[in-house]
Amino acid sequence: MGPLSAPHCTQHITWKGLLLTASLLNCWNPPTTAQVTIEAQPPKVSAGKDVLLLVHNLPQNLAGYIWYKGQIMDLYHYITSYVVDGQTIIYGPAYSGRETVYSNASLLIQNVTREDAGSYTLHIIKRGDRTRGVTGYFTFTLYPKLPKPYITINNLNPRENKDVLAFTCEPKSENYTYMWWLDGQSLPVSPRVKRPIENRILILPSVTRNETGPYECEIRDQDGGMRSDPVTLNVLYGPDLPRIYPSFTYYRSGENLDLSCFADSNPPAQYSWTVNGKFQLLGQKLSIPQITTKHNGLYVCSVRNSATGKESSTSMTVKVSGPCHGDLTGSHS
Ligand SMILES: *[C@@H]1O[C@H](CO)[C@@H](O)[C@H](O)[C@H]1NC(C)=O
Ligand SMILES: *[C@@H]1O[C@H](CO)[C@@H](O)[C@H](O)[C@H]1NC(C)=O
Ligand SMILES: *[C@@H]1O[C@H](CO)[C@@H](O)[C@H](O)[C@H]1NC(C)=O
Ligand SMILES: *[C@@H]1O[C@H](CO)[C@@H](O)[C@H](O)[C@H]1NC(C)=O
Repeated sequence: MGPLSAPHCTQHITWKGLLLTASLLNCWNPPTTAQVTIEAQPPKVSAGKDVLLLVHNLPQNLAGYIWYKGQIMDLYHYITSYVVDGQTIIYGPAYSGRETVYSNASLLIQNVTREDAGSYTLHIIKRGDRTRGVTGYFTFTLYPKLPKPYITINNLNPRENKDVLAFTCEPKSENYTYMWWLDGQSLPVSPRVKRPIENRILILPSVTRNETGPYECEIRDQDGGMRSDPVTLNVLYGPDLPRIYPSFTYYRSGENLDLSCFADSNPPAQYSWTVNGKFQLLGQKLSIPQITTKHNGLYVCSVRNSATGKESSTSMTVKVSGPCHGDLTGSHS
């Protein structure tokens, strides 16, 4: 059986999906007893989704079915077949890995792509008749697909409450409307968006550490929308005012002094300690074993973030009571 000459073709269905149109055509080489029909489910499919080509009114006493990509039934276009005896599935050169044929002849195509556009032919082989079959086909027509938009940013590492950020959604076209998303939530149009009419550019006069993202833009036209990959900001901030732990200040002679300092900062702060104005060490922790009264004094933790250029410090007074004189006031609070 050769390719179809199609005087009996009837167009059954026209889909106008968001991105995909399919028209279902059934063409019959007469005579056929019951009319085999192929129904696409769901009727509206967009790229990346699955479509099931349901075959209805399958005749009895069949040897098998072959699905071809296109209208030419040759080896090159052979996707897959089902052999009733032995319930065997055979794959051909046109098999993409995404098609599944069922015993009832229906074909599932997963993850539909632009390249799936075109027609498909089902060849139904009756028992004892190797030369004739029943054929149906349908066609996909893919709408011109929206391009995937992307975001450009003037500064991926803005400083908190300092740098003005400009996000631009590409590509530019008068045919699209633009939308913005932060963390999956639609961003309000005003007052932060500088160009409310076009909305292609989003201006944030300042950004806080909580607004790192993900930011997405979306373009829309009459057929649907397409979102960009998310963009996450690395907001540089801090150091905030450091804290020293533990916070108690009274120690007994012979105890170990273990202080640590923490300040929220991005990137992490550099820490240093001074004791009574004298540099002691770099680092977050200060440990002095077996302190004595000569360790009394003012302990200062200083933090610095070279990316923001900010510095901060905090201090505590350490008071060490003398060695055991039965002094009960020296225990720490
Ligand atoms: C054929 O089998 C598939 C998979 O089991 C099922 O989803 C589909 O509904 C069946 N088709 C018909 C026409 O019954
Ligand atoms: C669908 O296609 C995408 C992109 O081509 C791929 O990453 C994904 O693994 C596919 N999924 C299946 C079920 O084939
Ligand atoms: C906008 O749409 C019109 C008609 O649909 C088309 O001719 C034109 O090329 C489109 N412009 C762009 C920039 O895509
Ligand atoms: C960030 O969010 C936290 C909790 O949601 C809030 O306590 C904090 O004040 C926010 N910080 C800034 C700089 O907006």
